[in-house]
Amino acid sequence: MFEKLTAQPADSLLALIKAFQADPRGYKVDLGVGIYRDEQGRTPVMRAVKLAEKQLLETQDSKRYLGPEGDLNFVNLMKPIIFGANHDAGNVVGIQTPGGSGALRLGAELIASAAPGAKVWLGTPSWPNHAPIFESARLTVKDYRFVDLAKQQIDFDRVLEALDAAQAGDVILLHGCCHNPTGIDFDIDQWKQIAAKLVERKLLPFIDLAYQGLGDGLEADAEPTRLILEAVDEALVAYSCDKNFGLYRERVGALYLVSRNADQLKIADGNMASLARVNWSMPPDHGAATVRVILESAELTQIWKQELVEMCARVNGNRAALASAHPELGFIANQRGLFSNLAMSKETAVALRQKHGIYMADSGRMNLAGMQPSDAGAIVKALSAEGTL
Ligand code: LMR
Repeated sequence: MFEKLTAQPADSLLALIKAFQADPRGYKVDLGVGIYRDEQGRTPVMRAVKLAEKQLLETQDSKRYLGPEGDLNFVNLMKPIIFGANHDAGNVVGIQTPGGSGALRLGAELIASAAPGAKVWLGTPSWPNHAPIFESARLTVKDYRFVDLAKQQIDFDRVLEALDAAQAGDVILLHGCCHNPTGIDFDIDQWKQIAAKLVERKLLPFIDLAYQGLGDGLEADAEPTRLILEAVDEALVAYSCDKNFGLYRERVGALYLVSRNADQLKIADGNMASLARVNWSMPPDHGAATVRVILESAELTQIWKQELVEMCARVNGNRAALASAHPELGFIANQRGLFSNLAMSKETAVALRQKHGIYMADSGRMNLAGMQPSDAGAIVKALSAEGTL
């Protein structure tokens, strides 16, 4: 049966986790996979999460099934955070998913059920798992290079060209904030132009929102998403709580469909539940229940928001430290989220690891949350030694 399978390479991003751990050198810096680290280099369980988990442990009296939609209180409590306090609740349905990846996959399958073989337009570079997720759901990925890494700038003409080339019903994947891997987000004027094109060309935005609160704060990071949703008749939003609640391995996410057509919304909601049923039957509970407990309590919500502000400030402080360590790295201070992507070859990224203990993705993507401001000098020295600066 399995003799026809071909060997698959290990995911190169995830392989970095093990390679870093196995490196015996005393000085090394982990700018690899996208996780937050504090001043001690740890990825601690957030205080609000610990308190909510304690409460959950003491009060949870059953682990009976909830159903394919997961914890709908969690799904609903996230809505004002994502869509705003005054959003029209009648326009949105949602379902809990295993992380943001689960939400992307479920959204892709929903699209494939509605429009088999639909095209998804993906601006590159993007998260390396985006294209495989859409392709695994039998969608056709059309990519267009929209960030020039050498200039560290968006090629906005390319974006408009792609939107003009797309046909009615095509899907446009957009990073809601904190672009992964470049940290380069559209400005508000560009978002407005994108929104107008989506409407004019009858395109479906699929917004991946995985880092809300880690760019410029919860409200500011949601602004582009809200602007798009205001303009279009329907949209999908894949949301992840893995980073902003530090719940990575618990896999906490949700897929939302926003539509002005109430009948379609109801049918699509049922489709999302049946697709979840055949994929994972029901999502894992613990992480989402933890987020629910936080959001049900004004006190825990306050603690969580404060921690997120501190995390965001630390990441932006690291950005400032690296940007001021070398004149050619100034752009890093203007980018947002965990990542920036330097223009470099895979060989250079490997040399940075092997010769200098500076771990970043083969693509040159750096997780700025992985460093300390005091690492800036060593990073610049290594980049200079390898000819990147
Ligand atoms: C990342 O981009 O580093 C994270 O989203 C982790 C992952 O699953 O790739």
